[in-house]
Amino acid sequence: MPTPPGDPSDKSEGSHGVVLSEPPAEESAGSHELVARVRVPYLLTRRIFSKGLPPGPRMPSALQAVAWARRPLPFLERSQKHYGDTFTIRVRHAGTWVILGDPEDVKRVFTADHTVFGVGVANSILGPLLGPRSVMLLEEPEHVKRRKLMLPPFHGERVKGYSETMAQITRRELQNWPAGVPFELWPRMQEITLQSIMRVVFGPVETDRLQRLRHLLRRLTNWMNDPRRLNLLAAAGPSRFAGNSDYRAMMGPVEDAVLEEVRRRQQQPDCTDGSDIAAMLGEARYEDGSPMTEQDLRDELVTLLTDGPTSSLLSWAFERIVRHPDTLARLRAEVDAPHDGGQAGTDGVYLDAVVKETTRLCPAAPIVVRKLLEPMELGGYTIPAGTTIAPCVHLVHRREDIYPEPLRFRPERFLERPAGTYTWIPFGGGVRRCLAASYAQLLMKQVIRTVISEVDLRAADPRSERARKSAIAFVPHRHAIVIATPRIPHAVGTRVDADREVVTPT
Ligand code: HEM
Repeated sequence: MPTPPGDPSDKSEGSHGVVLSEPPAEESAGSHELVARVRVPYLLTRRIFSKGLPPGPRMPSALQAVAWARRPLPFLERSQKHYGDTFTIRVRHAGTWVILGDPEDVKRVFTADHTVFGVGVANSILGPLLGPRSVMLLEEPEHVKRRKLMLPPFHGERVKGYSETMAQITRRELQNWPAGVPFELWPRMQEITLQSIMRVVFGPVETDRLQRLRHLLRRLTNWMNDPRRLNLLAAAGPSRFAGNSDYRAMMGPVEDAVLEEVRRRQQQPDCTDGSDIAAMLGEARYEDGSPMTEQDLRDELVTLLTDGPTSSLLSWAFERIVRHPDTLARLRAEVDAPHDGGQAGTDGVYLDAVVKETTRLCPAAPIVVRKLLEPMELGGYTIPAGTTIAPCVHLVHRREDIYPEPLRFRPERFLERPAGTYTWIPFGGGVRRCLAASYAQLLMKQVIRTVISEVDLRAADPRSERARKSAIAFVPHRHAIVIATPRIPHAVGTRVDADREVVTPT
């Protein structure tokens, strides 16, 4: 596919250099009488399912692990090109995954009874980071119960209630941005998303202890995002990584500080109005009346506090916007227009499309995973129980039949046609869909709106940035370098916040 000028086909790293030796087209990883290279409509394949796993690259699992760790997006694209929408990859330390690039299969997975799935991600970086008692890693039926407990602060009116706080945090942070010189947006976005989630989790009262916790979280995130550590993780596997003494030295103080906050709320209930998540989880009781254990609380709060995807997607949004003057102009016109109080239903419509297009083109997670507890028919195969299946966000979002000119950043496509439940899946789907999807989209909108209305941004370098893996998501490889000048006096560059230091990730 040719690269449209200024668009990030290079972002997927697929067009840069040879990463892996291409396996011959006829190679396969399993029995495959039904060749998956040609897309066969699902109904036609109903009666002729092949047993075993779909074909896929035959490189040793250690090499596939390297490909997955270093350049997962081109690895997925090349495998799809050779083997079709359904293929099998074998990744050392992670297991065997059947990748699903056909929305019909994605739909079957997201609408299936959740009891047929187990957790598929325990054996990844998420294991040591989040902890085994995180909602993300709990098995059914416990998962659904915990999810219900955690949903309220992330839904409906509660989420809308955070809007003004999000804008305030952004305005405050803007004052720390340098004016007229190039700087990296990613660390600035990390700062905004960290402050926002801290407010949701611990409430509005700012204390020295919370400032220290913020500092510890920044330190942990920067340590984890160091590419050397990511390579170590790929080579050593998650369990050895979790035992690493440097990792413990970074994570230990975060765990202690988080639990101290929960205990403080239990001992002095009037230190909070009770609406923050830390207080809520401290008070929560299981059906038998027992409270959550310290391990449960630690894992849940760390899960929420390590919000990597939102800052990476915000960096991508600005990386794209500054290279698309038409988008920037239209966005600015919408942001500057007087609000109609929602009367015409047009407030923020284009902004919403920009957020959707960013999460389509630059999804934070290229796949979501589930472990099959029962055999399931997918892509023309009867996939056996025990296999990990992976609806592939990256491949579905780049399908030409759904998104014409898929590599182009064109928010208008979401004005012409609404996002489909099984074709726009940046937050996954079904019973494990991201429980903070509304919160994350609102935060993205509030940050973009505030920045665009207060600051003129331009790219420091006209070349598009490529995707680079960070600990939790993909980020622009130069961390979204821009130049900002204030649109309104004193919007940027007026303050050095004593509470924080911007650490530029290596
Ligand atoms: C734009 C930002 C975000 C993106 C793209 C994103 C994406 C995802 C994805 C793909 C999943 C897995 C879904 C699946 O398996 O079907 C997920 C799950 C989850 N996300 Fe997010 N996420 C974002 C922000 C957040 C934030 C800010 C939080 C919390 C503060 C959060 C908390 C969670 C949790 C707790 C789960 C597990 C849900 C469950 O297993 O029931 N996410 N997210």
